[in-house]
Amino acid sequence: QKEIISLAKITQFRSAVEEFSPFEWYRHHLEHDPISYNEETNSWNVFRYEDVKRVLSDYEYFSSVRARTTISVGADNEEGQHNSGRVDLSSDPPEHRKSRSLLSAAFTPRSLKLWEPRIHEVVSQLIKDMGDDPVIDIVKSFSSALPTIVIADLLGVPSEDRFLFKEWVDHLFLPLPADNVEDVQELKRQAAINYYNYLYPHVIAKRSQLTDDIISDLIQAEVDGERLTDDEIVRMTMFILGAGIETTSHLLSSTFYSFLYDNDQIYGEVQANRELLPNTVEEMLRYRFHMAKMDRTVKQDNNVLGVELKKGDVVVAWMSAANMDKEVFEDPFTLNIHRSNNKRHLTFGNGPHFCLGAPLARLEANIGLGLFMDQFERIEPVPGFKLEDHLTPSAAGQTLTSLPVRVIRR
Ligand code: HEM
Repeated sequence: QKEIISLAKITQFRSAVEEFSPFEWYRHHLEHDPISYNEETNSWNVFRYEDVKRVLSDYEYFSSVRARTTISVGADNEEGQHNSGRVDLSSDPPEHRKSRSLLSAAFTPRSLKLWEPRIHEVVSQLIKDMGDDPVIDIVKSFSSALPTIVIADLLGVPSEDRFLFKEWVDHLFLPLPADNVEDVQELKRQAAINYYNYLYPHVIAKRSQLTDDIISDLIQAEVDGERLTDDEIVRMTMFILGAGIETTSHLLSSTFYSFLYDNDQIYGEVQANRELLPNTVEEMLRYRFHMAKMDRTVKQDNNVLGVELKKGDVVVAWMSAANMDKEVFEDPFTLNIHRSNNKRHLTFGNGPHFCLGAPLARLEANIGLGLFMDQFERIEPVPGFKLEDHLTPSAAGQTLTSLPVRVIRR
């Protein structure tokens, strides 16, 4: 069982609101304390672009095999182990290669082409379901629904079951609190068992009837003459669920938050010039994806970052801080959808573990926002909105539980 490192002890934000917009904390570290040892958690924290990139990608020195980690996603029972045996993505090359190749069978450009019309359908239906309401909750009716339905659809399980999915994912993503750890662990264990029992029969059924979905792709995937077992496929999909839902939801929610509260000109500008949309999505990933951080364990004593790192030390790479490094991004703390190099952000990671779902996340965001803009001429904040009443901690950071938006239809 891995030891979970508390991020709260490293960041020490004074409020949920501060944590939701941690720009000052990033600025401080980038300028004054870019490689910082945190005594309480016995971890190193790195913030600058080149250092973060190095830690993420240089697997000779920084390993994804971890005994201590900041990631508390998943459960500690048998069903909750999504990384085990041959399908262990928490590994380094060359071992990592096989797991990744097996999983990437489900993320080929061909699959993406196939999914595009399905994502269109899902978004259109969500927008239809919004009816004539003058105020909609973006989180509930759009940003958390879209990735959940898309993943359910791509897995090839009935999308009516998405509410189950969402609940399990929420539970698997719960942060481990300072107290009541056992209660939260128990919720996670139960979610893992429920998910496992739910998905297993689907995998068995698909073996005799292959279709166009991720499970069928995984059934057929073959590397070095090896194929995945039913058990491994269930674990792989649990990993995809965890990796693909919370993240994309967060991207969509914070994009709308940005449209309303960071810069209220952007929505209108993109509405009038749709060609700006892909770069807008990229800028949101750079600027308002504040929960991007990932840890590695030092594999051998080294000094590659300019400090003495010992084998076994944990290093947390703060990608969202690196995205604010002025060495790479001009005027980094300004949200600028015209920025030409914002694709260099590290939000999807870097190196051998670079996010396999990045093209899917981008596709969901572009189709989702595009169709939304087709329907809604303008959006406005709802008077009296208080951010602190709409945040909740997740294993990954502060996330919006709801975001009311006044919509003006075409
Ligand atoms: C890996 C971020 C969406 C599947 C990663 C990593 C990051 C990341 C930072 C690298 C982890 C590391 O270096 O250890 C994101 C963000 C997303 C997103 C910000 C959305 C905005 C998705 C989606 C899927 C997905 C939609 C799939 C449906 C994966 C997988 C890996 C991964 C399978 C593991 C790759 C490996 O270890 O080789 N993601 N992700 N992600 N992501 Fe994503």
